[in-house]
Amino acid sequence: MERRDFLKSCGFALGAGAALGGPLAPVAGAAERIFAPADQAGPAPGDYNSIPVRGLKPDVPRQVSVIIIGAGNRGNVYAAYAEKFPGAMKIVGVSDILDYRTKRLSDKHGVAPEMRFGHFREVFASGKKLADAVVIATPDDRHYEPCMKALELGYDVLLEKPVAQTEKECKAILRQAKKYGRIVGVCHVLRYAPYFLAMKEVVDSGVLGQIVSIQHLEAIRYAHMAHSYVRGNWRDSNETTPIILAKSCHDLDILRWIIGKPCKSIVADGNLFFFKKENAPEGAPMYCTDGCPHADKCPYNAITIYTKLKQHLGVFDLEGNRDPEFILSRLKDPRYSNYARCVFHCDNNQPDHYVADMMFDGGVSVSFAMSAFVSHGSRRTRIMGTMGFLDGDLTQFTVWDYLTRTPKVWNRKVSDIPEYRGSGHGGGDLALARDFVEAVAWQDPGRLSSSIDVSLESHMMGFAAERSRRSGKKEKV
Ligand SMILES: NC(=O)c1ccc[n+]([C@@H]2O[C@H](COP(=O)([O-])OP(=O)(O)OC[C@H]3O[C@@H](n4cnc5c(N)ncnc54)[C@H](O)[C@@H]3O)[C@@H](O)[C@H]2O)c1
Repeated sequence: MERRDFLKSCGFALGAGAALGGPLAPVAGAAERIFAPADQAGPAPGDYNSIPVRGLKPDVPRQVSVIIIGAGNRGNVYAAYAEKFPGAMKIVGVSDILDYRTKRLSDKHGVAPEMRFGHFREVFASGKKLADAVVIATPDDRHYEPCMKALELGYDVLLEKPVAQTEKECKAILRQAKKYGRIVGVCHVLRYAPYFLAMKEVVDSGVLGQIVSIQHLEAIRYAHMAHSYVRGNWRDSNETTPIILAKSCHDLDILRWIIGKPCKSIVADGNLFFFKKENAPEGAPMYCTDGCPHADKCPYNAITIYTKLKQHLGVFDLEGNRDPEFILSRLKDPRYSNYARCVFHCDNNQPDHYVADMMFDGGVSVSFAMSAFVSHGSRRTRIMGTMGFLDGDLTQFTVWDYLTRTPKVWNRKVSDIPEYRGSGHGGGDLALARDFVEAVAWQDPGRLSSSIDVSLESHMMGFAAERSRRSGKKEKV
C-alpha cells in the first residue's frame, strides 16, 4: 500500500482544503514526489524544490486592455506586466490626481491624450466602458467609490487591498460584482508567490496530517514601520484602515488559505508602544532635517534611512536620481516632508505590535503576532500537524515527517528565475497580474486564487480582530 493511501485510510491525509477542489486541490504529481519512499527520495535538502514554479507568460486568447487608476507605487507595479507581455496586456488609460504621475506612466505606454485622466471620476464621466478592466491602486479610502462605479459600467477590476474601509463597503463591493457579473481580483499577492504556493502544496499533499495549530509572525522591520505606518500614508488608521487590515490582511488571508477552513472567532490585543511624544529624546526637533542632536544614535533618523541607506525611496519621485543631496532636498520639500518627521512627533495611531489568537472550524488554532521591532522584514510560519511539522521564514521552509524523521527543504531562490526578477512580494506581484489578465481574457474568475469572495473572508477576520482589540472581548467572525 502506498504511504499516502495508508495515511488516508487512517484519516490522516486530509490536507487542509484538499476536499474543496478548485484552486485548493493538490497539484497532480506532488503526492508522489512527497511520498516517495525514503530510499528513492535522493538527498533530503532541496527535495521540495521540484515543486513546479509556473512562468509569468500568460495563456490568453486575446489582448486585455486596462486603465490604471492611481499611478503611484502599486499602479506602476501592475503596469509593468504590460511591458513584459505587451501581447497580453495593454495600458490604454491612466488616472492620477498628480499630473506628472499620469504623464509619466502614460508616456511609457503610449496612452492617447484623451485617455489621460486626473481624478478617477473623470474615467467614468462619459458613462461608457473604455477598456476591459481597471486596476484600482489608489489609497485605501479611495477604493470603494471607483470600484462600485467600474463594476456598474461593466469593467473587470483588479483591486488593491484592503478592499474597502468598512465591512459594509466590502460586502457592497461583493454584491455589486455579483449583480453585474464582473470579475474582481484582490491583490493578495502572497498567494501567488512561489514560496507560499509550495507551502500550500505541501500542506494539501497531507504530509503534515491534519493541521492542528499554526504560529505566524509578521515581522515588519523597524525602518519599514517608521516609513509606512508612523510617517507615511498608513499612519492614521481612521484615514486608511487599521494596521491589521492595511498590513496584515495578507497574513490573515494566507492563514485562511493554508488552513482551508473558515475562522470562527478571534481575540486580539496590541497598542502603540513606542512611536509617540513621550518617548522623544530631549531636544529632538519636529523634523530630522532640523539638526537633531540624537541623529547618530537614532536608527529611525530620516536622513540615515533615506539618503545613506537609500531605503524606501519609491515615494520621492526621484526619476532615477539617487544622489544624497537630491534625496535630502526631497525631504525638505513640503510635498515629501512627512518622511522627514521625527518618529516621536507624528500624527500616527497605528499599533506597532499586535497579537491575535484565532479558532478555525474544526478546532484548528492560530497564534498570530505582528511586530515593528525586528531587524529584517519577514514572515515566520510554523505549521503543526498530526503527522509532520513545517517551519518557514519566507525564504525557505523545512518539513519534518514524524515517521521518516528526515527534514526536507524548499529553498528555491525566486530571484534566480530570470522571468521573476523584479517581481516584488517573492514573485507574487507579477504572477497575480498574469492570473488576472488570464481571468479577464477568458472571462474565467476561477483562474484567480484571490477572488473577491474568498478575500472578503480574511477581511472579516481583520475587522473582527480590530473590534476585539478595542473591546477586549473575543469576537465571532
Ligand atoms: N498588495 C500589496 O502588497 C500592497 C502593497 C502596498 C500598498 N498596497 C495598497 O495599494 C494602494 C496604493 O498604494 P501605493 O503604495 O501605490 O500608494 P501611492 O501613494 O504610491 O499611489 C497611490 C496613487 O493614487 C493617486 N490618487 C489619489 N487619489 C486619487 C484619485 N482620486 N484619483 C486618481 N488617483 C488618485 C495618488 O496621487 C498616488 O499616485 C493602497 O490601498 C495600499 O494599501 C498594496
